[in-house]
Amino acid sequence: MSETCYGLKDAWKAAFRVGAAVGEKILKTEAADKIICRHFSSLTPENAMKFGEIHPEENRWHWTEADEIANYARRLGIPLRGHTILWHNQTPPWLFIANGEASGKTGEPSGEPASKTDLFRRLENHIAGLTGRYNDVVYAWDVLNEVIDVETGSDDGFRLSKWYQIGGREIYDFAFTAMQAASPRARLFYNDYNIESGKKMEATIRFLSELLDAGVPVQGVGIQGHWYYNYPDAETLCAAIEAYSALGLDIEFTEVDISVYEFNEGADTHKFFTAMPGDRIRQQAERYKEIFRIAAHYPAVKNITTWGIADNHTWLDNFPVPGRKNWPLLFDMEYRHKHVVPALVETGLSLND
Ligand code: GLA
Repeated sequence: MSETCYGLKDAWKAAFRVGAAVGEKILKTEAADKIICRHFSSLTPENAMKFGEIHPEENRWHWTEADEIANYARRLGIPLRGHTILWHNQTPPWLFIANGEASGKTGEPSGEPASKTDLFRRLENHIAGLTGRYNDVVYAWDVLNEVIDVETGSDDGFRLSKWYQIGGREIYDFAFTAMQAASPRARLFYNDYNIESGKKMEATIRFLSELLDAGVPVQGVGIQGHWYYNYPDAETLCAAIEAYSALGLDIEFTEVDISVYEFNEGADTHKFFTAMPGDRIRQQAERYKEIFRIAAHYPAVKNITTWGIADNHTWLDNFPVPGRKNWPLLFDMEYRHKHVVPALVETGLSLND
């Protein structure tokens, strides 16, 4: 069979899973459904399992979208990455206030803050609800998302979120311990961005080492991978993988998208590309190929997931520069594969020879 008949998931299956983040709507789009069936062996709910989405009031759950994704995954036999249990964003206001009666998906809580005991209990109930419903289909959970902040965080490098301010550092250990009790077969991850280099990587390694030394059940690190056409270079990525795998952790690239811009490019001038920029897309392709090749070299790397499927739906159209169209994924605006996809398939297959 020629490589054009294979998908990414088959080509790389000896090395790692290949996944994508999805919303429930895209699963009903025929072209996207075809891509998923052919190319992906892991799915991540883009928003549906976030706290504010799925648990908007203390005694009310909103399962509809997450159920649709879980049922789709069950039908196709594709395991999910559960995303995410404890994060500072997209949290419902009731979670952090004393009487817990506020409703709504997100927003600033107003009123007497919740007690530490309440917050631990609420987290435990949240975990019980999610795992009770989805344990059969979720193989890995992002238990903590983005709790490190070396720029504006605490002296020891933690983000000054409501979780941290009310729950303290120990709520992080508790999240993993409670998850393991509720979901003993799942792989439990710490997930964050910009943790492949610099001070943030150092702080993350320190944090993970402390968790491991204390016997906290963490099994993996999710390197989000919101990257750029010219970053990271191979040396940076290899050094990061080696540092995390030396801790004995699995590594997954959980939210990969490769921006065709530098971070703030065009923020002042408002000069953006108006069509997919050929030269940058070629550089993007090189970056994708390098990331896949490097990942395959290290047995600790178990998954490469892109944050979306096709360029018609990407958060990068509005981040960090609002209204700046981006083309960061493997499939274009019309769900056609970019040139890099068959190239990746071919490289993956050649590794199996
Ligand atoms: C972070 C989160 C994701 C998603 C992206 C942007 O990386 O982990 O869930 O919200 O930001 O879309």
